[in-house]
Amino acid sequence: MKSKILRGRLLTFVSEPAGSDDHASYRYIEDGAVVIAEGKIVSVGEWSDALSLVAPKAEIVDHRPGLILPGFIDTHIHYPQMQVIGSYAKDLLEWLNTYTFIEEQRFSDETHAARIASLFCDELVRYGTTTAAVYCTVHPQSAEAFFAEAKKRDMRMIAGKVMMDRNAPEGLRDTPQQSYDDTKVLLTKWDGVGRLHYAITPRFALTSSHEQLEMAQDLARQFPDAYIQTHVNESLGEIAFAKELYPNLPDYVGIYEHYGLLGPKTLLGHCIHMNDREIEALAETASVAVFCPTSNLFIGSGLFDRRKMLEANVRIGVATDVGGGTSFSMLRTLDEGYKVLQLRGQRLSPLESFFMMTLGNARALSLEHKIGSLEPGADADIVVLDAHALPHMTLKMEQVESLSEELFLLQTCGDDRVIAETYVAGEAAKSRLG
Ligand code: GUN
Ligand code: ZN
Repeated sequence: MKSKILRGRLLTFVSEPAGSDDHASYRYIEDGAVVIAEGKIVSVGEWSDALSLVAPKAEIVDHRPGLILPGFIDTHIHYPQMQVIGSYAKDLLEWLNTYTFIEEQRFSDETHAARIASLFCDELVRYGTTTAAVYCTVHPQSAEAFFAEAKKRDMRMIAGKVMMDRNAPEGLRDTPQQSYDDTKVLLTKWDGVGRLHYAITPRFALTSSHEQLEMAQDLARQFPDAYIQTHVNESLGEIAFAKELYPNLPDYVGIYEHYGLLGPKTLLGHCIHMNDREIEALAETASVAVFCPTSNLFIGSGLFDRRKMLEANVRIGVATDVGGGTSFSMLRTLDEGYKVLQLRGQRLSPLESFFMMTLGNARALSLEHKIGSLEPGADADIVVLDAHALPHMTLKMEQVESLSEELFLLQTCGDDRVIAETYVAGEAAKSRLG
């Protein structure tokens, strides 16, 4: 099998940066080489050492002066909401009822689902994202279409059919038994195929009956390695409704806790309006709070309290949440995340940001041995960034003196245009897009 060597400036994290100057948290090689074979990273090091390590016929791709990083990871996104982006609403519940629950009904049509799944994967690649935790719709065919597309592209993806049996239009409701049966069939069929993983996906407590959450619990018990993804504490109206639906449980997180849905593979979107008991429950169960800044600002849901989560030892992921979120770009997402935290009086250094979109999110998904770093044995999912992609960035680069400054510029001004290339399992994927 022919190997490939990427040449450029390499950046990979080895630990969570303790602050803006934690140079021990990453490895940076000015003239580096990543050797790839059979979809995996074989070795990483100085360019001067690389040539002696590989067969003379290796393909060399010179990305200098590009910055080579692990592919970006998005821990919460809805593929059926590509055409929901930019929908004008007063708050979350209006946004869901007016646009999202209408649009998602179209995914009963397999042809439509297949078309959008393909366009969605194109966008991820265009924006440098190589792994995502993805919501499909209630229709099993929407999950079939997504898994089939991700498999075709050999992408590492987590996804699941949404379980929802109330407080939504008829065309978007299943039943507890149907959701159980469909989830079981899909999980058994797709989990572990290629690089695919299944997520048991009760949409949120508002759209699931007690019986359905019991079914989700049953599935979680039968498949303890499967992910669980849902939403919690995003907006005040949503929280009030959850309280009405589950009056005997202490709070919103308490609902998922009651049905045994918390744990190290549980991804909880938003986690904005959290009480101390809820934060403690997340910490104790090692559940993951997923920060979705562009969505939280766009929908007007609130400001995530990262410091409080960190102080309580809650695991954190960061995500676009398209289509409540407004961009597929993890750079745009962390730029908005930075602004949310500025408003909270909290700091987010560029090193922390880039850690979060790579190794941090890999850890949030318990996939740090496979993705999120440039290490021998890891999947060759890689992104190449170009801080000279735009004229005003080139101008600013005249004054940039450190790696952190360059990262901050990429985050503040970057989008798909700074993604010079995206490699999926060692294959150049962005340059192949139409
Ligand atoms: N809560 C339940 N469903 C959704 C969704 O699709 N998007 C967002 N942002 N919040 C939700
Ligand atoms: Zn969401």
